[in-house]
Amino acid sequence: MAPSTGTAEARAAEPQGEAAHFERTVARDQRIEPRDWMPDAYRATMVRQIAQHAHSEIIGMQPEGVWITRAPSLRRKAILLAKVQDEAGHGLYLYSAAETLGADRSELTAKLISGRQKYSSIFNYPTLTFADVGVIGWLVDGAAICNQVPLCRSSYGPYARAMIRICKEESFHQRQGYELLMTLMRGTDAQREMVQDAVNRWWWPSLMMFGPPDADSTHTAQSMAWKIKRHTNDELRQRFVDMSVPQADALGVTLPDPDLRWNAERGHHDFGEIDWSELKRVISGDGPCNAERVAVRRAAHEDGAWVREAAAAHAAKQEAR
Ligand code: ACO
Repeated sequence: MAPSTGTAEARAAEPQGEAAHFERTVARDQRIEPRDWMPDAYRATMVRQIAQHAHSEIIGMQPEGVWITRAPSLRRKAILLAKVQDEAGHGLYLYSAAETLGADRSELTAKLISGRQKYSSIFNYPTLTFADVGVIGWLVDGAAICNQVPLCRSSYGPYARAMIRICKEESFHQRQGYELLMTLMRGTDAQREMVQDAVNRWWWPSLMMFGPPDADSTHTAQSMAWKIKRHTNDELRQRFVDMSVPQADALGVTLPDPDLRWNAERGHHDFGEIDWSELKRVISGDGPCNAERVAVRRAAHEDGAWVREAAAAHAAKQEAR
């Protein structure tokens, strides 16, 4: 129960009941906890967002995971292994957070592998060279941090708390990516070209990660009112562009947007029109790697059936004892 504030008379005059408690908790920037009453639509929104986020972390292991055996040195392999394992951990926290809302993890997985639940568009692009590992760290994890730091103040307690640790680990991911790119940029012309090519391919999809423009966003208004989201998709996208421009300069790469320039009046960078038809296509399952990503996840789930069966049999045996 959220502690009351104000005088005894003011508290007595407050509307009573579960719905009023929910509204007050949100208005006071306190957290909704699993046992608190919440509107059905709030619960459904939280399950939707947390499940999509968890699926993104798990599917997100694939584009970089394929580079573990081909990492150019032991050091790079150790870093990449740690990073991909972190993503698995993030998925697990998030599935646990969804379970606190009454969702069933096996059902969520079934929805993912049958294409009934979404995951982030960004993981449907191929990783063609090792520079992609660096660019994913810099841009994709950078965009993820930009989007997820405000979620540490999200109104649903278990999600907000999970996000604190996730963001700390994402910061390491972002730095390892940037450091990898710095190393390549100090290398040969071919290595510098490889970095520029990866930046050219990942820049626009990274901007799409923030979701459709505010005018077309289905959930933003309600999610902002419930303080699930703290900023709109466009606000976070702008913040990411502003953050990335000086980082690109320091790295010595060009962001592939001829319309990108500082606008002193707005105090922000202007940038070119995003190809929203591409985002729609990728979200609806027709991106370059959608079929492969889901097929790999489905095969991993089927291959793991014996582990789940053995764990269930072990648990039943323990209980019988
Ligand atoms: N990829 C796939 N689907 C997307 C994307 C995207 N980049 N952006 C929006 N969508 C979907 C939404 O899920 C929603 O679909 P639905 O109604 O079927 O659920 C629809 O497009 C409309 O979008 P919005 O109304 O703007 O949706 P929402 O308010 O949920 O905002 C956002 C989308 C910003 C992604 C939000 O859900 C969020 O912040 N999620 C948590 C962060 C996250 O999931 N990150 C995953 C990638 S980062 C990583 O794993 C490294």
